[in-house]
Amino acid sequence: MESYIDASRIAAKVKEIALQINEEYKGKVPIFIGVLNGAFMFLSDLIREITLDCEVDFLKLSSYGDSQISSGDIKMLKALNCQVKDRDIIVVEDIIDSGLSIKYMKTLIENENPRSLKIAALLFKKNVSNLDFKIDYTGFEIENEFVVGYGLDHAQKYRNLKGIYVL
Ligand code: IMP
Ligand code: MG
Repeated sequence: MESYIDASRIAAKVKEIALQINEEYKGKVPIFIGVLNGAFMFLSDLIREITLDCEVDFLKLSSYGDSQISSGDIKMLKALNCQVKDRDIIVVEDIIDSGLSIKYMKTLIENENPRSLKIAALLFKKNVSNLDFKIDYTGFEIENEFVVGYGLDHAQKYRNLKGIYVL
């Protein structure tokens, strides 16, 4: 495996995103919604840099199985437990690839009428994504490579690595 983004660059970027959120959400109590499993590490580092009152919830989707390519058939494996209506929601994703998962979640959450909805993604694959909306907070734009580490897996392995690697 080849090192792609090391732990110190990730930590600096996470702080930068948190700083921006702290500034933009002053006086608000956002709900961070982490997308399991991949976003657990990004979410946990991110919220430790958040100085606002905030809440945390998770949802879980599946579309990849053990493959490296999205099947496009998205299943909800764990629904939200929080009330989204009239709340400020920040969806926290590990990576945007085809964009199918984030499109699905955006529609799902918008249907529950949040006061606002923003998206934070640590990684964004610039070659593949074809979205008709913007990602509000992006960590790193990366090439069309399959990456692992810092929460991201291949066949459930490598999530524990501190940095991000190309498989
Ligand atoms: P999308 O629906 O194609 O945008 O894929 C989103 C989900 O697929 C992410 O939340 C990841 O869990 C997974 N995924 C996409 N690309 C990668 C990768 O390079 N490594 C590991 N997981 C990935
Ligand atoms: Mg995954």
